[in-house]
Amino acid sequence: MLNIFLVECGVELIPKRIRSHPAVKRNLSMRNYSSQLLDNALHHSAMHNFKNRSKRGRPDIAHLCLLNALGSPLNKSGGLRVYMHTVKDRLFEFNPEIRIAKNYNRFKGLMAKLLIDNGIRVNETYLIKPLKKTLEQKIHDVEHPEILIFTENGKHTSHNDLYIKSPSKEYVAIIGGFQKANFSEAVLSLSNEYVSISETALNAWIVVSRAIIYYELANNIF
Ligand SMILES: C[S@@+](CC[C@H](N)C(=O)[O-])C[C@H]1O[C@@H](n2cnc3c(N)ncnc32)[C@H](O)[C@@H]1O
Repeated sequence: MLNIFLVECGVELIPKRIRSHPAVKRNLSMRNYSSQLLDNALHHSAMHNFKNRSKRGRPDIAHLCLLNALGSPLNKSGGLRVYMHTVKDRLFEFNPEIRIAKNYNRFKGLMAKLLIDNGIRVNETYLIKPLKKTLEQKIHDVEHPEILIFTENGKHTSHNDLYIKSPSKEYVAIIGGFQKANFSEAVLSLSNEYVSISETALNAWIVVSRAIIYYELANNIF
């Protein structure tokens, strides 16, 4: 089983203190969920003084990562679990059967509803489940995990060497859901295994896709 943790994703509601800023007010409607999500492309000028700014307001990155992960053969074969951790330290687990909207505005609406209602469910079944545990607690719930932190600063590792330590093992792949900046110290302390899969910095969704494809190849999943 491969467990993907997309961490420090820039998925959050527009903070109250900038709701009266002209760049925010222009699009904001309480009846429209998608307009309530912070989006750097729209709210850039209102985000100047934000702490941790480079990681915030980037639901587009989470969108592309989730489309790649949940649409993969590995997910369809039941071998993938996907978690999203946000810059605000909220943690969610995706039902493998969820169909993520390909339309970006619809996706933003889904994320805003997720944060406001604390979960997305149909009847009694969660499609996106809120977790009360911290990132560290949830990772250590995985039995004997091999925890890999994917980072451009890691040890260069070929695709043949990523998942071979023990084929029956549970793997945890930690991938940053942000564009610039590095992982927080809290994330970096989750493992000593830092792996780099390229000589250059890649976009998060490319890394998600490769982390999955390499696992599929190592386990003959097509
Ligand atoms: C756009 S990058 C953020 C750049 C950041 N300086 C970093 O640590 O790689 C988003 C995420 O993609 C992953 N990533 C990017 N380049 C990588 C590489 N060469 N090898 C492994 N993971 C990579 C990391 O998980 C990173 O947090």
